[in-house]
Formats: sequence, structure tokens, C-alpha cells
Amino acid sequence: MDEERLMNQKLENMGEERFENSLRPKVLEEYIGQRKVKENMKIYIEAAKKRGEPLDHVLLYGPPGLGKTTLSNIIANEMNSNIKITSGPAIEKPGDLAALLTNLSEFDVLFIDEIHRLSKSVEEILYPALEDYTLDIIIGKGPSSRSIRLDLPKFTLIGATTKAGALSTPLRDRFGIVHRLELYSEEDLTTIVRRSSKILEVKIDEEAAQEIARRSRGTPRIANRLLKRVRDYALVLGDGDITLKITKHALNQLEIDELGLDEIDRKILETMIIQYGGRAVGIEALAVSVGEEIDTIEDVYEPYLIQIGFIARTLRGRKVLPPAYRHLGYEVQEEIGFLGQ
Ligand code: ADE
Repeated sequence: MDEERLMNQKLENMGEERFENSLRPKVLEEYIGQRKVKENMKIYIEAAKKRGEPLDHVLLYGPPGLGKTTLSNIIANEMNSNIKITSGPAIEKPGDLAALLTNLSEFDVLFIDEIHRLSKSVEEILYPALEDYTLDIIIGKGPSSRSIRLDLPKFTLIGATTKAGALSTPLRDRFGIVHRLELYSEEDLTTIVRRSSKILEVKIDEEAAQEIARRSRGTPRIANRLLKRVRDYALVLGDGDITLKITKHALNQLEIDELGLDEIDRKILETMIIQYGGRAVGIEALAVSVGEEIDTIEDVYEPYLIQIGFIARTLRGRKVLPPAYRHLGYEVQEEIGFLGQ
């Protein structure tokens, strides 16, 4: 796969990408939320710049849509470096990674999304590159093959993953800076919605911004997507300004409830309540019953359902909790429903 195509894999789905890009902050100062990560990164970036060295390799993990790519772009920008963006599955062979690495310039940032999906053989090429900025390549095949060592420019790898646990220990150990991105507070999401509305040049009432924030499951990408949809309703049903009334109408039409749960969240919870009678259920069985991938349930749906106290992870599997029963209008079944098992 040539380098251009490797880079452009991420840029598929251009409409959504372009929309997101237009709303992305470009400097740390503009980045809302994730206070701890921001404060720490600010120090590390300043120190690296003072020393005239590249930033240490960075691993960012956490649920999707929280701004791992945004933050990586900001880091590169703040370091006055270029960023090259690719993803684990796009790097199929060691040669793909070698092509990427040899095309970097001094202090460039290489961003690898879904880094937990790198193959073993690719990972092995990465270790010396990360540690000593060298690349060992084998020329030829069989008895006459030989290994040569190339020096690479000093670069920074930023790896992003939704599954830090799926990373091999040797790879994880080679990141000097490791940060977990957390789900956003309602307050921070409200600020993000206000900021995005300003960029999109649409007027929004404070309560409307809060309503979108409340229903965005702690995730800026969802907040911006909902804002985009609500903006459509405001334009067609009103005068273009986003009011609380239009917002509620639009979100109800989208079947996003007051807590931001969508059809699939409700299906997961109802399956646990009705089909499994509130007993602990393994993720594999749950995925089959709901008709979703295990990864999708674990990475996309579960973090928020756990955060709001609707689901718990236990040794025996996932358990649905009383607040979920109440929210969906079911009676909590004390015996078998909750205390049972
Ligand atoms: N848009 C998406 N994520 C953002 C963030 N963390 N801060 C500001 N704008 C954003």
C-alpha cells in the first residue's frame, strides 16, 4: 500500500470529517475539558521545546469521540511539527510502516489510530524505531539475506486506542506519556456546543445548548452531531435560531431520550432486563442477543451506561442495575432481578 493511501484511509467519509475538522480546536488553549491531560501536555510540550528535543511518545486511550485525534493535531501544532495520520489496520505489512517512518522529517508526529490493531510483525519494527530511532530492514531472502540498520529522524509517535488493555506490554511500555481521556461533564459539553454554534454561525439559546449537552453521553463528537441535526430542524421548522423547544422536538424525533440513550442502548438494557431477567450476562451472549459486535458494545455503548450507573461489570458478566429499570419504566425485581444471582 503506498504512503499516500495509508495517509488517506482516515480521510474517508469526507463529509463528516470536514464537518468535524471545521469545529476542531487548533491550540491547547481552545481545547475544552480534559483539564488534567491538558495541563500535563502543556508542561511536556514546553519542556521538549526548551530542550530542542522531540516530545516523548504519547499514548491516548478512552472511548471513541472524546478528541484523541483532535488532541494529537493540537500537540503537533503546538510543537510546530507536521503530523502524519494513519491507523493500525491500514499498516498491513512491516514494509508499510518502514515506508511511513522513512518519509518522516525531524520532529514530525506520526499518529496511529487504533494502535491495538497493529500486527505482531509490524509492532516488532516499531520497537527500535521508538527506542533508538532506527529501522532494521532485511534485504533479500534465504541464506543470502542480510539486515541493514537505517537511522530515522527523531519523531514522536502518538498512539490512540479505545482498548489500552489490548496493547501488548512491550508496546505500552515504550510510551513515555500515557493519558486516559474521560467522558466530558455536561458543563464542558455545553461550552463545546456554544463554541461550535458560534463557528457554524447559528444562534443558540443557553438552555438549548445545555439540552444538547445533556443528551450527548459525555461525548463531544455526539454533541456536534446532534447540534448539526438540531440546526436542520431549526432552519426548516423555525427561523434558524436554535431554541429549547426546537431542540427537544428534534432530539425526540431522533429517539434520543433525556439521558442521551438511543435505540441500541435501550435494546441492550431491555435485553438484560427481560431476556436475562436481570441476571449477570456474558458479553458474548449479550452481543448475540442484541445483534451488535462485542467491540461496539464494549467501546461505544458500555462506558456511558456504566458511568451513569445503569450497568455494572461483575466477575460473572454484566449486570443491569435498578436505575436502568426505573428509567425504562420497569419494576425492579428485587429477588431475581437485582439481588438474585
Ligand atoms: N470539539 C470537539 N472536541 C472539543 C474540545 N475538547 N474542545 C473544544 N472543541 C471541541
